Amino acid sequence: MYLRHLKLIDFKNIKEFETDFSQINCFVGNNGVGKTNMLDSIYYLSFCKSYFSPNDTSSIREGADFFAIHGDYVLKGTAEHFSCTLEADGRKQIKHSGKLYKRHSEHIGRLPSVMVAPNDQSLITGGSENRRRFVDIIVSQQDKTYLNNLIRYNKAVEQRNKLLKNYLKTRFLDETALDIWDEQAAFYGDDIRQRRREFFAGFAQPFRKYYDYVSCADEQVGLDYRTYEGGLLDLLGRNREKDKLTGYTTVGIHRDELEFGLNGRPIRYYGSQGQQKTFLLALKLAQFDYLYEHLGLKPLLLLDDVFDKFDFQRVSKLLQLISQQHFGQVFLTDTHIERVESIIADEFKDKTKIFRL
Ligand SMILES: Nc1ncnc2c1ncn2[C@@H]1O[C@H](COP(=O)(O)OP(=O)(O)O)[C@@H](O)[C@H]1O
Ligand SMILES: [Mg+2]
Repeated sequence: MYLRHLKLIDFKNIKEFETDFSQINCFVGNNGVGKTNMLDSIYYLSFCKSYFSPNDTSSIREGADFFAIHGDYVLKGTAEHFSCTLEADGRKQIKHSGKLYKRHSEHIGRLPSVMVAPNDQSLITGGSENRRRFVDIIVSQQDKTYLNNLIRYNKAVEQRNKLLKNYLKTRFLDETALDIWDEQAAFYGDDIRQRRREFFAGFAQPFRKYYDYVSCADEQVGLDYRTYEGGLLDLLGRNREKDKLTGYTTVGIHRDELEFGLNGRPIRYYGSQGQQKTFLLALKLAQFDYLYEHLGLKPLLLLDDVFDKFDFQRVSKLLQLISQQHFGQVFLTDTHIERVESIIADEFKDKTKIFRL
């Protein structure tokens, strides 16, 4: 998969931009010039939403009525055009070779991309919901049943919590209704747990490989999936009295934890900034491998400020890695033109394009 040509109109601070891309593309410039916005526009065309801004219309340039993103891709040898426009009233249109998608969800997964950004640090240092979301997003990109089951599970738990909360207030509990939601939650919960287990079974190995490669150190990293034991229906029954006291559902896959370990200890407490960043990068590169394997396309790698806080050795190892045949097209940002020029070895110069913004 290759993004040959990109054209932007009024996307964030970018009024107009049009260019051809190479295999490795570096956006260089001072803070605030729009480097991250460039990566975000590519991400937007993949996922119909910004990686950074939850509010859709805030991606329209201030004072403009709409934005447009046009991309000419080569997918499995065929040239394909994709576009996305967003109007100030929130109307969004995604087109594939001029044809409008009925649903945006039909587009997701067509143009796989993996973003690595500084604020991803919350994946390591933040609450467990960040780590569950990381897994959920990867798995649902290639497994629509997973996503549907997750939605149904969340709905069952939500309804269950409503009954429990109501019980705290009124001392009345519709136990029959609770039984029904228990069954629903257990049915979907057990399935999601199984799919998460399968995911980790395949994900751990490439993750370790990438960590070892970039860190060049003898460190033991681990991903430990912690979930409930046994069947969820039985467990919900056994926890019912407890749930009635707390007013919410205390067991299930919404409480799953993914423990990130370094030398046997949680990395969020014991890892240095550099180690945490390497860990994050390894997770994202393993995500690349997973998507490549399941979708049959090499995702675009979008690396925002990844060289920051890395020593020279890690930077050059990383660049060596992403220039290999295994990876496809790469887009990265940096504030230092000298750093970018010095780390791009002569052998990669002819497949690299530097954009000074
Ligand atoms: N909708 C918008 N309209 C105009 N400017 C915007 C919009 N959204 C973000 N910006 C501006 O974009 C700039 C940040 O760009 P960014 O890509 O994060 O810079 P950097 O080069 O540091 O990565 C900020 O100055 C911000 O105000
Ligand atoms: Mg930036």
